[in-house]
Amino acid sequence: MTRRALVTGAGGFIGGHLVTYLQAQGWWVRGADLRLPEFRATTADDFVVGDLRDPEVCRRACDGVTEVYALAADMGGMGFISKDPATILRNNALINLHTVEAARLAGAQRYFLASSACIYPEYAQTTPDVRPLREDDAFPAGPQDSYGWEKLMAERLCVYYAEQYGLDVRIARYHNVYGPYGTWDGGREKAPAALCRKVAEAPPGGEVEIWGDGRQTRSFCYVDDCVEGTYRLMRSDHAEPVNIGSDRLVTIDELAALVMTAAGRDDLRLRHVAGPQGVRGRNSDNTLVRQVLGWTPDIPLEEGLAVTYRWIAGEVAAARGAAAHATPA
Ligand code: NAD
Ligand code: GDD
Repeated sequence: MTRRALVTGAGGFIGGHLVTYLQAQGWWVRGADLRLPEFRATTADDFVVGDLRDPEVCRRACDGVTEVYALAADMGGMGFISKDPATILRNNALINLHTVEAARLAGAQRYFLASSACIYPEYAQTTPDVRPLREDDAFPAGPQDSYGWEKLMAERLCVYYAEQYGLDVRIARYHNVYGPYGTWDGGREKAPAALCRKVAEAPPGGEVEIWGDGRQTRSFCYVDDCVEGTYRLMRSDHAEPVNIGSDRLVTIDELAALVMTAAGRDDLRLRHVAGPQGVRGRNSDNTLVRQVLGWTPDIPLEEGLAVTYRWIAGEVAAARGAAAHATPA
């Protein structure tokens, strides 16, 4: 029987990469999203353009597939998830409630949920030299924002579908994923893409704005590692949540310095400005993922940023070219 997978959120960043990865493993893949991918044509064998908050769209998307990868979400970096908490929780809860039910009704055998490091409690992330987060740090619960609370609820939803209906679930907690073909402007971009854009746009001798004092910390996972980890997890028999993230902790100032190196720019200065900062520090403890998958993300940040910067610099140049050629109204 043909291996048929649905990737929701296939018009987005990780979903777009996952479609290609699954096809390379021999899967027939249907994508579903509000929109087709923005930055390149989809390679999906089939694509449902529709709103997954609607159960009927979820039904059409899940029809005839054996596995579902649930990545669709109303999401973004700190500039986005720090606003409109009710809308974010409502949209994402509706997407997840209807997608898992449609997968069950369609008889899908295995279900993947893209959860997030944002489910971890704020109280465990208060210093830059934060202890890496282990999967069992999730409780007592205390996520930072409505996006994190909804992801935690979606995780529990999967656990209950497994318990009550025998749905075979896999849950990954992604830690800040970056790479080409992701949002790089407009407000939803995360720090790696935002800093690549700011460096690419900076004039000679100019400044790069950093939200906060730049000493807050994160780890950053390259998208190729993210999709490989996702697939490895789906092929494993581990039904509990697992971190998929890098365990290399860097400050945001260090991240900016690495982007400037990737760009070959030593003429720029950092300027610290007010902005949404989220938790003070966040890192991934990779003990469990190493144990259950015999694998951890290992693409060096320097390597991933070089590819990401090149792509974003090209997008910035193309946008400038288009603006220069636009006919005045
Ligand atoms: P993305 O925004 O690029 O992709 C999400 C896609 O979901 C978008 O294309 C969007 O159009 C689609 N979507 C939103 N609402 C929808 C709706 N009502 N119906 C249909 N489609 C809808 O985000 P991404 O970075 O590719 O993230 C993919 C998944 O991974 C998300 O679930 C996200 O929460 C999770 N995640 C991502 C990161 C990260 O750093 N990128 C970290 C943790 C978790
Ligand atoms: N986005 C952004 N843009 N962040 C900046 C900027 C900028 O120009 N300058 C500095 N930062 C700082 C933020 O203030 C924050 O402290 C840090 O960089 C990381 O910001 P983001 O990359 O936007 O988000 P995050 O790491 O707090 O959370 C992201 O990752 C989670 C998973 O680890 C979000 O994308 C969440 O949605 C995701 O679940």
